[in-house]
Amino acid sequence: MARHPLVPVAVGTPLLILLLAGCAATPPASPKVTYENTIRALVDKRCSECHGNDAPSMEEFKKDQEGYKAKKLGPRMDTYEHLMVMVNGSDAGALMRRLDDGTNTKDNKPGNMHKHLGSDDAQRAGNLALFKSWVGSWNLKRAKELSEEEKKAVLAPRA
Ligand code: HEC
Repeated sequence: MARHPLVPVAVGTPLLILLLAGCAATPPASPKVTYENTIRALVDKRCSECHGNDAPSMEEFKKDQEGYKAKKLGPRMDTYEHLMVMVNGSDAGALMRRLDDGTNTKDNKPGNMHKHLGSDDAQRAGNLALFKSWVGSWNLKRAKELSEEEKKAVLAPRA
């Protein structure tokens, strides 16, 4: 009987998987995610179309939410200070509520900005992981529901 040409490939595959698994078991120490090294560029790429420097401040946005919504503009988040309003400021937790994949939301549905995190599931999951790592404490509560300890647990380092 002739040797099947696929045999060496079939033998090679488990070896390759073993090699890859070996790499995954010892990941390099991941550097700290900061606004400066990661989040600024991520927001710029994924969110600035509607949350850039032509978008209203949170204060202005709250005065005419429906009007801005119709123009596809949300509150600006093009600087650290503007973004932090939605992380632990007057609108604390808004970033987490809107970006969550449904794991922590009350209705188990993804927040309505989750889809903007990437063009496919893997990219969305990867970028969500970056936001989570940056925030440190992924708490979806609103400003008035947060305890002092919960507020302090939010890291979101600038640099
Ligand atoms: C295509 C336009 C668009 C893109 C892109 C977009 N957003 Fe939004 N976003 C909006 C609009 C419009 C609103 C206001 C309406 C609403 O609350 O859903 C909003 C609201 C929000 C809010 C709630 C603000 C508040 O406190 O009321 C957050 C947080 C938010 N977006 C985060 C993000 C993040 C983070 C990204 C990028 C990953 C992003 N958005 C990408 C249009 C967009």
